[in-house]
Amino acid sequence: MPHDAPKILVIPPGPRSKELAVLRDRYVPKAVYNVTQIFVAESEGAIIKDVDGNEYIDFATGISCLNVGHRNPEVMKAIEEQMRKYLHLCFHVTPYEPYVRLAEKLATIAPGNFEKKVVLVNSGAETVENAVKVARRFTRKPIIVTFEYAFHGRTKLAMSLTGSVHPYKYGFGSLDPAIHRTPYAYCYRCSFGLEYPTCNMRCLEYIKDTFAIHLSPDDVAAMIVEPIQGEGGFIVPPREFLQGLRKICDESNILLIADEVQSGMGRTGKMFAIEHSNVVPDIIAMAKSLGGGIPLAATISRADVIDAVQVGGLGGTFGGNPLSCVAALKTIEIVQGLLDNVPRLGSILMGRLREMQEKYEAIGDVRGIGLMVGVELVKDRKTKEPAKDLRDKVLSECHKNGLIIMGAGAYHNVIRFLPPLNISEELLNKGLDIFENAIKTSLTK
Ligand SMILES: Cc1ncc(COP(=O)(O)O)c(C=O)c1O
Repeated sequence: MPHDAPKILVIPPGPRSKELAVLRDRYVPKAVYNVTQIFVAESEGAIIKDVDGNEYIDFATGISCLNVGHRNPEVMKAIEEQMRKYLHLCFHVTPYEPYVRLAEKLATIAPGNFEKKVVLVNSGAETVENAVKVARRFTRKPIIVTFEYAFHGRTKLAMSLTGSVHPYKYGFGSLDPAIHRTPYAYCYRCSFGLEYPTCNMRCLEYIKDTFAIHLSPDDVAAMIVEPIQGEGGFIVPPREFLQGLRKICDESNILLIADEVQSGMGRTGKMFAIEHSNVVPDIIAMAKSLGGGIPLAATISRADVIDAVQVGGLGGTFGGNPLSCVAALKTIEIVQGLLDNVPRLGSILMGRLREMQEKYEAIGDVRGIGLMVGVELVKDRKTKEPAKDLRDKVLSECHKNGLIIMGAGAYHNVIRFLPPLNISEELLNKGLDIFENAIKTSLTK
C-alpha cells in the first residue's frame, strides 16, 4: 500500500467519516466507546488510511493487537492458505492440526520448566475467566486476589476482577463475591504515600498482613496480576513486586496468574512481560496480538492444574478457530524475530519522551518497558493532580495531525504508546514529532 503518512487532506473526522458517524450514533450504543471518529478505509504496517483520504501513523495498533503490523503479509498468506482448506470445524467435534500445533508452541515458549497445556478461546475476558475457573477447580478454594487499577475485561467475572467501577462495573448488578482487591505497586501514586525504594515494598507487606489478620490464604485460590498494568495506566512495578507475589503465593499454596493480554507477545521485548522479573506464573492469559489481528486468546496452564477440570468444563464453539490458529503460529514466529528490535526502538521512544519530560512540566512521569510506554500528564509536578483535559486535548491534536494514539489510566491522564514492533525508525520519530507538537499546542491553547 503506497502511503505518504502523515497526510491530512481534510481535518478529521472528514465528511465521509462524519456521515458514517451518523449511522454509528443511530445504531450502535454509546456504551461502545470510540477513541476517534475516524472511519478507516485500509491499513498496512504502521499506517492507517481513512475514508476521507487522510493517512495516519498508528501508535495504538487496535489496543496492542497488531504487534506485527496491520495486514502482515506473512500472516495473511497463512490465513489465505488455511481458507482454502477449511474455515470452521469446532475443535470439540472434529479436531484439527493448527490447534494442537499452536497449543504445543505456546506450551513450549511459556516460562516454566514443567508440563503445560493450553485451551484456546476468543477474547481476553474469556481467557481470564478460564484462568480463574481452572485455579478455583484445582485448589478447591474460592477467593481470587486482584489489584487496584487492574483491568481484566468486561464479562461478569472479568469485570469483578477489574478495578475501576466507572465505566466497567457501574450499574451492572452483583459481581463475583469471592474477589479481594489489594494495592498494586503504582509507585508514582503509591497507595501508602511512600517512595520506592525506601518503602521497603509496603504493598507486599500489606498482603502479608492481610493474610495474617483479615483473610485466610486457605481460602485463596489465586492472585491475578498484569505484569505491567495496561488500562490502569501503563504502570510498571519494580521487579521485587512480582517476585514478592510469587513468594507469597508459594508460601501460602496460592496460584499465580499472569494476565499478559496487553503486555505479552513481544510488546516489552520478551515474549511475556513477566519474564523481565524472572517470575514463573502457574497460569498465563494471552489474547490481543496472539492472532496477528484475528480474534484469539489462550489460557496456558501448568498441566496438573488445568487437568483438574472435568471433560467439557473448558472450551467453546469458536475457540481456536483454524484461521486464528495459523495466524497465531505465524505471528509468534514473526514476533520471535522482532524481539531484538524492541529494546532498540523502545530506547528511541523512551529517550525522546524523557527529553520532552525535561522540557514540559506537564509530563509528570514517563514509564514502560520496550514498546509498551506511557506518559502521565499532571497539572503540577508536586501535587501530581491529573491533567485529564490536557490529555484529551493532546490526543485530539495528535489525531488531527496524523497520529492515531490513545489514552489509559484510572485518572484519565495517561497517554499510551503502542506502535507495531516492526515500525520503521522514521515513522516512529515522525509520530513522536506529532506528539511533541500536540503537547506544545495544547499547552498554549
Ligand atoms: C490486561 C487485559 N486483560 C484482559 C483484557 C480484556 O480483553 P478483551 O477486550 O479481549 O476481552 C484486556 C483488554 O484490554 C487487557 O488489557
